Amino acid sequence: MGKPSTEQVLEVVLPGAVEPDGLELRRRDRPSPSIGQALVRVEASGVSFAEQQMRRAKYYDQPAFPFVPGYDLVGTVAEVGPGVDPTLVGRRFAALTKIGGWASHALVDAADLVPVPDGVDPAEAETVVVNGLTAWQMLHGIAKVTAGQTVLVHGANGGVGSTLVQLARLAGARVIGTASPRHHDAVRALGATPIDYRDTDLPAKVRELAPDGVDAVFDHVGGPGVVDSYRLLAPRGTLVAYGTASTRDQEGSSRLPVLKLFVRLLWWNALPNGRTTTFFNIWAGRRNAAKFRARMTRDLGAVFALLAEGSLRPQVAARVPLEQVANAMRLAESGTVTGKVVLVP
Ligand SMILES: NC(=O)c1ccc[n+]([C@@H]2O[C@H](COP(=O)([O-])OP(=O)(O)OC[C@H]3O[C@@H](n4cnc5c(N)ncnc54)[C@H](OP(=O)(O)O)[C@@H]3O)[C@@H](O)[C@H]2O)c1
Repeated sequence: MGKPSTEQVLEVVLPGAVEPDGLELRRRDRPSPSIGQALVRVEASGVSFAEQQMRRAKYYDQPAFPFVPGYDLVGTVAEVGPGVDPTLVGRRFAALTKIGGWASHALVDAADLVPVPDGVDPAEAETVVVNGLTAWQMLHGIAKVTAGQTVLVHGANGGVGSTLVQLARLAGARVIGTASPRHHDAVRALGATPIDYRDTDLPAKVRELAPDGVDAVFDHVGGPGVVDSYRLLAPRGTLVAYGTASTRDQEGSSRLPVLKLFVRLLWWNALPNGRTTTFFNIWAGRRNAAKFRARMTRDLGAVFALLAEGSLRPQVAARVPLEQVANAMRLAESGTVTGKVVLVP
């Protein structure tokens, strides 16, 4: 069961809706894993868009304050609880946690651990846990993008976006990526043709590149712009909506913008024009835990394999010590980064 220890652990606490400086650091006794759990010594945990929403109390499935944020992590098993294979101790794994990753140690259900290939740097692996799973499942599970197709990826410099661009290129697709002009060189380097997402004539710019429409659009922006995403689809195209980033700073309910989007997608799906629309949710199917975990292990395993062989280039925007979490949060929200800001405890 590994070595129990009396050492202290360090964690970041989000006490309420606060600015980045309001994040707190807390030390407490190292917890012991209970039945089925592993205690992971965290080596890397990312700053996702979800935490930008959570610190504003604007996440769709907002956890109750106070809590330790951290949507995903990579780390080494330090100790296991009863009923868990003791040979896991000392091995490196990734986990999708939703909360709890911004800590020196985290308790995780051992069944949720996905092995990280030997030789892969923990921070680099971290950039493709939630981002890689999201991108892979949207691309291959939903849109089923194939070689020769053209796809539109919004936020092509972001954590999910930069991974999605690369996976779509690896699948043989042509990619148009929206991003701020300051990121256009980076988006080009990933293999996509960049367009400014603030361009008022964005649909016309896409049509110049894809006169017959695009085979898939990946839209995390939501709001009124999703109408353009839908209209840009080719006759048998697929719109994969997966967020409402444009409403992050709006007052009011965190759920309403998502619910409005659901209604819109349902309505579009009912139209007999061959186009399909879907809302992707990484947690869908969680009730069937065994099936969910098998799919996660398979899909994350496929992404890790591409990372290990060097086909997928990890986009580490910065490595920031856990103690400097406020800087990490500010950087992630600055609009100046390509890829993922990674906290390294
Ligand atoms: N449904 C799911 O299961 C699921 C899973 C994972 C992620 N997501 C969603 O995926 C999106 C990206 O997450 P991430 O962690 O990759 O975020 P991220 O690394 O912070 O990247 C966000 C991207 O969105 C762009 N952006 C920010 N605000 C925008 C706005 N108002 N309009 C248009 N673009 C905007 C950013 O551009 P700049 O750099 O120019 O600001 C950046 O390209 C989020 O909306 C998140 O909620 C959904």
